Amino acid sequence: MQYADMLRKLFAGIELNVEDLLFLESFQIGYLPDRAPRQELAALLRANPVIHRYLVSMCPSVVSFLDEILLEEGTVDKTIEQNCDELLWEIADLIIYSKYPEAYDKNVDFPWEINEIVSPQYLHDKVVIDAGAGPGKISFLLAQYAQTVFAVEPTGGFRRLIKQKTLERNITNIYTVDGVLDSLPFPERSIDCLMTSQAIGWNLQAELYEIKRVLKPDGCAIHLFSDADAVSESVKGIHDILTSFEYECTRIKNDSGTKLKYHMTMKGE
Ligand SMILES: C[S@@+](CC[C@H](N)C(=O)[O-])C[C@H]1O[C@@H](n2cnc3c(N)ncnc32)[C@H](O)[C@@H]1O
Repeated sequence: MQYADMLRKLFAGIELNVEDLLFLESFQIGYLPDRAPRQELAALLRANPVIHRYLVSMCPSVVSFLDEILLEEGTVDKTIEQNCDELLWEIADLIIYSKYPEAYDKNVDFPWEINEIVSPQYLHDKVVIDAGAGPGKISFLLAQYAQTVFAVEPTGGFRRLIKQKTLERNITNIYTVDGVLDSLPFPERSIDCLMTSQAIGWNLQAELYEIKRVLKPDGCAIHLFSDADAVSESVKGIHDILTSFEYECTRIKNDSGTKLKYHMTMKGE
């Protein structure tokens, strides 16, 4: 299934419109050159100059990409509405993270038990990062066992949701932090364990060096992929790089598909 079709199915009931692009944060706009279909984005920008100005003012590094696609010839077989709809659903995950974080939390499963990820006994005196935390599903699971959990998440909508849930549940050991995986706001050798779920690979090699920088000697990193069958091509590229950084892969197959866990322990001193 194409990525946009999967998102339409997962978030059926949500309607996206062109103004939703104004919810994109600057780091997300930086992903457009890799993520956005060129012709459809160019058609949308020609019809909506305010959106063009917003993208450029929030993320000047995309100027040359936008100038380039606007110079390309578009085909005339699609209406402006079709172009906008296709563009919006191709990047719908980015919009939904910012505008509908509760819908992501409700509709996207986190199919892992704590014992499949890490031993609860190991966690009891540990400081752990959940990086690319989204609505914080791992953070809330880990907080039951770990001393301290830092939920690192660059999208404001998700950070607000995590904070709201920690207050509602009276949880005092989850701290929400703005940050990205390739520039983690933590000192060297300060963290016992860093985990990600469906969140690594925006700038993979730099992220893996950054993870090694913040981990203590004997610390560990764990990366989870919940549905490796659905995204086998992208996971394949990530697999090769992770194994070259000395990660071991565990494959867990069940009726709903294949889950992958990558695990690496830092060498002690
Ligand atoms: C597919 S969601 C996964 C969320 C959560 N970990 C889960 O399993 O439900 C990907 C998350 O990575 C975040 N993200 C995007 N770019 C990132 C980056 N460069 N570093 C860390 N997280 C990033 C997104 O905002 C989003 O919350």
